[in-house]
Amino acid sequence: MTQTAIALSTDAQAEINEALNQAVAETAVATMLAQNFHWNVTGMAFGPLHALFQEIYEDHFVAQDDLAERVKALDGHAEGMLAGMLKRSKVVEFEGTGSDREMVEAMKVAEETLASTLAGAGELAANHGDTLTEDLCIARGQTHEKFAWMLRAHLR
Ligand SMILES: [Fe+2]
Repeated sequence: MTQTAIALSTDAQAEINEALNQAVAETAVATMLAQNFHWNVTGMAFGPLHALFQEIYEDHFVAQDDLAERVKALDGHAEGMLAGMLKRSKVVEFEGTGSDREMVEAMKVAEETLASTLAGAGELAANHGDTLTEDLCIARGQTHEKFAWMLRAHLR
């Protein structure tokens, strides 16, 4: 049965919030990853890559807020600490400098990881009847898959 946020049990809310905070953390780390690449990418594809990384971090910055505020609607604590985000996140930072290709590859892996995290969070929400969280997760998952495809297309 479909449940609204306040109709869910405390345990269900906590479980969904844990999954959402994972998504918040990974979205935030991916935001910084994209901004890092936006700043530091070099090569003959500088123009389009600089623009693509900007499109990604602008999307992700808005999404962090949407996901974190869904945690608040579910009566949870939104992960707001960078240290906490780095601890939770399966998306990892990019150490040092790299080629344009290495940056596209790292960003692609981040987008694929996020798509997987969001798909899992959506399934978990659905299992609790929380279709409104499920809907947010599906929309975010689709966006990450779109970015993953766009990045993958550079590598073929
Ligand atoms: Fe810029």
